[in-house]
Amino acid sequence: MSMTTLRFSWYKLYSELQGCVKCRLCESRTNIVVADGDPHAEMMFIGEGPGREEDESGIPFVGAAGRLLNELLEEAGIRRKDVYICNVVKCRPPQNRDPFPDEAEACLPHLRAQVALVRPKVIVCLGKVAARYVYDRNIKISQQRGQVRQVKGFYIVPTYHPAALLRNECWINDFVADLITAKRLLEGGTSPNSPIE
Ligand code: URA
Repeated sequence: MSMTTLRFSWYKLYSELQGCVKCRLCESRTNIVVADGDPHAEMMFIGEGPGREEDESGIPFVGAAGRLLNELLEEAGIRRKDVYICNVVKCRPPQNRDPFPDEAEACLPHLRAQVALVRPKVIVCLGKVAARYVYDRNIKISQQRGQVRQVKGFYIVPTYHPAALLRNECWINDFVADLITAKRLLEGGTSPNSPIE
């Protein structure tokens, strides 16, 4: 049995999440929203936290932002069923506010377990909250979106959050370009930015 198997297992992850009361978000949640998609995916998408429709359904990215994400994934030639989609926090922050730092910190072990178990080649961070907690506390998405980083053996592609695209349609082309960058990394093709580190 490998160390990964010992430290992380899907059973352990789901057992720890079941009835989780590690932060105040448990008080108002309907469902714990763990993930959607392929647990063996080479590409992983990380969002911020569930919204109302995700809280009600238990599935990430099924609301308006999720519907736009689906459309743009298709435009980039990526099938949603082939990727793994999850969030920094698994329970809905009230009024869709950003998760507080202590809530994100409490949930990070679950996200780390998901990354360790899926072992994606490429992680797409959807928005600043994901990028901050995954690899860069000081990231400015508007300046750094699309810039590929190599961190601990993963390619990381930061991009806009799909909800931000609903308010700023002019960012949609850049978002699709970032998805294509992520896809090309898997295909071993060239990317507009060379990975650093
Ligand atoms: N926004 C997120 O960050 N995650 C979801 O699952 C839905 C909306």
